[in-house]
Amino acid sequence: MTARNETDDEPALTAEQAAQIDRAVVGEGPLTEEEEIYKENILDHYRHPHNTGRMSNATFSNRELNPLCGDTIELFVKLDDRQRVCDVKFIGKGCAISQASISLLSDSIKGKTIEEMKNIKREDVLSLLGIPIGVVRMKCALLSLRTLQKGIDTYEASRQSHNGQRRSGECL
Ligand code: FES
Repeated sequence: MTARNETDDEPALTAEQAAQIDRAVVGEGPLTEEEEIYKENILDHYRHPHNTGRMSNATFSNRELNPLCGDTIELFVKLDDRQRVCDVKFIGKGCAISQASISLLSDSIKGKTIEEMKNIKREDVLSLLGIPIGVVRMKCALLSLRTLQKGIDTYEASRQSHNGQRRSGECL
């Protein structure tokens, strides 16, 4: 069971959700001081996610589902005339790791080109999260990247079928 973050100003982290983060940690030893900071950062992004909302004039958007739990992320990306990300929004429902992951990823793609976004690897997303993620939570952590990658794939396929025509505009 997960909490929806787009409706609550300050969603309380349930004991189950807090435990999800601990269960994500590989090994049995305590987190290092640096990992504790990253863990706090994950909780902060979950409670106060960046770039939330819908976008009516996105260059491309995509919605993906974590088949293991049914949680979702819908991502909206707007490119400017230089084909760089000038705005990004998302709405999501999921655990702290999945929602922190898309919040962090959405911040990190601002100003990037399509090619630069295509070069984002799973290791980059895991590095943004900053704590070791166990096998059970890997799909949660990488749902954000899958949502972005499939959105780009669909956008590029659509451009090819329209003879390379670009869909972009001005970001105010
Ligand atoms: Fe559903 Fe993590 S438990 S995305």
